[in-house]
Amino acid sequence: MTQKTILIKPYSAYERERQPAENAELTHVEKGSPMGEYLRRFWQPVALSTELGELPKAVRMFGEDLVLFRAKNGKPGLLEKHCSHRGTSLEFGICEDEGLRCCYHGWLFGVDGTILETPGDPPDSQLRFNVCHGAYPLHEYRGIIFGYFGPPQEKPEFPLFDTYAIDDDRLVPYCLTYPCNWLQVHENVMDPAHAVFLHTRISFTQFAEAWGELPDMDFVPTPAGMIYVTTRRWKDKVWVRSNDIILPNLAQVGHIWEDGQDDKCFARVAITRWTTPIDNQTCRIIGWRHFHPDADPRGIADEAQCGVESVDFFGQNGARPYEDRQRMPGDYDAQVSQRPIAVHALENLTRCDRGVAMLRQLLRRESNKVAQGGKPSVSPLRTDGATPTYAHDTVISAPPREDDAAFIREVGKTITGIVVRGEHHEAADRDRQVRARIEDYAQSLAGTTV
Ligand code: FES
Ligand SMILES: [Fe+2]
Repeated sequence: MTQKTILIKPYSAYERERQPAENAELTHVEKGSPMGEYLRRFWQPVALSTELGELPKAVRMFGEDLVLFRAKNGKPGLLEKHCSHRGTSLEFGICEDEGLRCCYHGWLFGVDGTILETPGDPPDSQLRFNVCHGAYPLHEYRGIIFGYFGPPQEKPEFPLFDTYAIDDDRLVPYCLTYPCNWLQVHENVMDPAHAVFLHTRISFTQFAEAWGELPDMDFVPTPAGMIYVTTRRWKDKVWVRSNDIILPNLAQVGHIWEDGQDDKCFARVAITRWTTPIDNQTCRIIGWRHFHPDADPRGIADEAQCGVESVDFFGQNGARPYEDRQRMPGDYDAQVSQRPIAVHALENLTRCDRGVAMLRQLLRRESNKVAQGGKPSVSPLRTDGATPTYAHDTVISAPPREDDAAFIREVGKTITGIVVRGEHHEAADRDRQVRARIEDYAQSLAGTTV
């Protein structure tokens, strides 16, 4: 009997073959694994600055046990967890002016892992010059502590993106821990169909009624990764929304409660977030919620709810009672319950999943490139010194046409063409130029008839 015959037969659970293994190439992140080595070539968020007080903090990254601390001179350090003397965990160490002192015999480690003192030895001991403790470099930026975990000679510049400079924006750091593999959480950003079902039709309207309208969906490569393009008819408006993936594991998401009611042009993001592996079966979303008028026209957002294991929109952690989560599941419930590591060989991908498939393809291509000794792709473009990104919401007035499905598809394609392609992407006033071109296009539609 072929596997296909079993799959289409009712009551066939007993006859299933044993569960296939997960896709290790894309999901596993240990040192030496293709994806682990690829992800390590980029600055990765480790913790919020507010998580690091006067005491050291035990953390895990890519399956490695580490200790994060802040020396009294203000510099953060990230050391291998176990002391180079006899292995005591440095989470029990004491933060001093220049570093972290092990509680057991007082060895003092600098933020870069150099051994500054071995106080039990004679003053002329050379031991500290012959041993170095493992450490990773850190960079603290706007309330998030980032680390670089790859080969030192490949360390990139700390990247700056255009969305760090949105007018009147406040970047509020937040983090959420998910007890599952990093990829299933990250690829959710390229799954716009779940917004229709999980977030709107299945239990209740979690964000806005317009999300329940099945959009035209497209997936477009960018110099930095890819975007999805969803284009919806909503009353007399056409709403185009794109989320960004910036390879490998950075994502940007538009306005959370966007309802498609009011015209807007290239309104920028509400979230910039990394999904970073703690190990193969745990990951952490760390990033910023953006608070600016474009991302919250109705005043729903709540900065006070954003922080450690908390964010101001529905369904992002497992803190609710189990039965509430069953009745009104959110992103956390849908993604974590895909198994500790989602098994790709058991999936039946559909047309809706083209974004997920494309993201996996890009990640595979890039991790293979690194495994073969190449450099990972990054966008070469700069706008005012920052890398241009593409996530946006645009809503234009355009009443329904005779062949409305074809019309809205054309609107989505044209606006995406303006946003993603074009020589203006390296211009200092790129956002203004994009908005001017979209506005011209919207005007041209207002003058056309069917
Ligand atoms: S085990 Fe750390 S100083 Fe001895
Ligand atoms: Fe979602």
